[in-house]
Amino acid sequence: MTYRVLFVCLGNICRSPLAEGTFRHLVEEAGLGDRIEIDSAGTGAWHVGEGPDPRSVEVAERHGVSLDGQTARRVTEKDFQRFDRIVAMDADNRSDLMTVAPAGSEDKVCMLRDFDPAGPGDVPDPYFGGDQGFENAFDMIHRSCSALLDEIEAERRR
Ligand code: 4NP
Repeated sequence: MTYRVLFVCLGNICRSPLAEGTFRHLVEEAGLGDRIEIDSAGTGAWHVGEGPDPRSVEVAERHGVSLDGQTARRVTEKDFQRFDRIVAMDADNRSDLMTVAPAGSEDKVCMLRDFDPAGPGDVPDPYFGGDQGFENAFDMIHRSCSALLDEIEAERRR
């Protein structure tokens, strides 16, 4: 059975594309590419149809992760039927997701850094900052995605 994971941020051009690409990289490395489906979306619509921010592409490439083929889209109510887990980058994304979630599907929503071995919190929005913000976001996303994959694997074995 396919397990489906959706990563969500505000614009779907900086953080959630990085999470999508990084998680896909880890999933493929683990040989699970045909069992886990991955996508990303934004709570806002400003960047719909655009590719990832070049600063996200650059930091991803530096770490051997490709963001090729990604196009920004907005999260919809239907995503709550399709996906098993909807992973928010920050607390604002999570509360926006709760306003879209059909009744009874709220527990599909979690925060990416709930899985961060360094502790929970937001993946801060790097959009208005410098390149260090993107490197910092990548580090948080990478270690959290790795732990998320371990958790999903444990869940699938239960
Ligand atoms: P993201 O970053 O949510 O990580 O994709 C942002 C991208 C665009 C904007 C805000 C955050 N914006 O205001 O346009």
